[in-house]
Amino acid sequence: MKKITNICCIGAGYVGGPTMAVIAHNCPEIKVTVVDVNAARINDWNGEDLDNLPIYEPGLKEIVAQVRGRNLFFSTDIDKGIKEAQMIFISVNTPTKTYGKGKGKAADLKYIELCARKIADVATEEKIIVEKSTIPVRTAQTIKTILENTGNQIKFQILSNPEFLAEGTAVNDLQHADRMLIGGDHSTADGREAIDSLAAIYEHWLPAERIIKTNLWSSELSKLTANAFLAQRVSSINAMSAICEKTGADVEEVSRAIGADSRIGSKFIKSSVGFGGSCFQKDILNLVYIASTLGLNEVADYWEQVLLINSYQRRRFAENIVTSLFNTVADKKIAFLGWAFKKDTNDTRETAAMYVADYLIDETANISAYDPKVTQSQMYSDLEHLATRSNEENARRLKAEADPYEACRDSHAIAILTEWDEFRTYDWQRIFDNMKKPAFVFDGRTIVDKDKLSAIGFKVYQIGKG
Ligand code: UDX
Ligand code: ADP
Repeated sequence: MKKITNICCIGAGYVGGPTMAVIAHNCPEIKVTVVDVNAARINDWNGEDLDNLPIYEPGLKEIVAQVRGRNLFFSTDIDKGIKEAQMIFISVNTPTKTYGKGKGKAADLKYIELCARKIADVATEEKIIVEKSTIPVRTAQTIKTILENTGNQIKFQILSNPEFLAEGTAVNDLQHADRMLIGGDHSTADGREAIDSLAAIYEHWLPAERIIKTNLWSSELSKLTANAFLAQRVSSINAMSAICEKTGADVEEVSRAIGADSRIGSKFIKSSVGFGGSCFQKDILNLVYIASTLGLNEVADYWEQVLLINSYQRRRFAENIVTSLFNTVADKKIAFLGWAFKKDTNDTRETAAMYVADYLIDETANISAYDPKVTQSQMYSDLEHLATRSNEENARRLKAEADPYEACRDSHAIAILTEWDEFRTYDWQRIFDNMKKPAFVFDGRTIVDKDKLSAIGFKVYQIGKG
């Protein structure tokens, strides 16, 4: 088995950054270099101020402090990184296509393809290529074809090693992974050797039985399947939340009751304003696209429904704000607590908050948003991405506040979009005193104490509670 002493990771994002930091931390004898075309991002990874790393993840800065400059390096010199490494992780973004064939559904593989071409171009000796990004099934074949038909006729092994880390708990998820999936070519000795070389890296800190070795296609498909199942659970409970509200059932009680069934389990059945994040929607769209291109239309429709319920849930939440505020939010101030797609991350990709904001701005509301980790420019860029109206109009209607009490001052209603812990411990009496009356709270994450807030005088709506 080939002993790996030098790794390069292309892509210094939410996946590449934390994953490589954890590998470097656990494998002091391996030199790990993370490269990226984005010089500003690399600069931030190399910055003095560890509170300013490009990605916020609990526990990450402590690890970076220990290993950066020891065996973890961040660089824009992609060619050098590739040349020196025996193993190259591809960890670039694979967004949903916004143009051409498969627009709005298929994954855009242009960044992956650019990486493959770059590797083919630069490599002068044998390499193991590891797909880390979430990708559609059979992407490995694309990479293989490019590597075999361009470049210097060097031997490459391709492995699929999908990431299961969740943002906000990435370091812990990596350090204590339930399983590590490695897909590769078992039919050849070189293929088996490559799989074992990657497994040996993870065996530095994970028990061997947690490392699952499969063929390439199973590994790629398992990643999509895992995310589709998780998202499906959230959509299932969110569908129930709508029934709860109409019947007087309480979705939290329903979750607790069904979660106690060990066949169902208690995770991923918390009702919310809708799931977000870079993976769930993209991966299901991928599944839907793959199924329909295979002529499996019933399968495509089945998975698409998970997404339809998610948009329904966001819209239902926003509509309820308008209806409750006497059917108009025109020029009213609505305070948003939270913008990130979940707590403990500064990531806002596909966050429910931007869709709810978009809906309310259409109704000419003014939004004053507070999030402990998201900047105003990020919020604008999220709305710009939706392309519903001009940037000037968005800037007129949405303002970020650095202080939650200021965000809520003089507002007609508060919408809680992210479950940040700090929201639970606010001085809600002080918030109430400074709001317009009647003062509404729309809790999209079921985190506030409804009885306490109602006693203060708030009119409280919580998802899934009649
Ligand atoms: C997900 C997968 O969990 C991870 O394994 C994969 O590698 C990447 O995609 P992530 O998107 O970071 O991770 O976050 P996750 O914790 O899965 O949450 C996704 C969304 O679902 C969030 O918006 C979250 O708020 C929402 N959610 C989650 C619920 O609304 N209810 C739940 O019970 C759980
Ligand atoms: P993820 O959540 O998958 O990690 P991110 O968008 O956070 O996605 O990170 C992907 C990173 O990959 C970005 O920093 C981007 O600049 C980088 N990247 C994309 N294409 C290339 C490329 N061809 N070469 C090097 N880096 C790239």
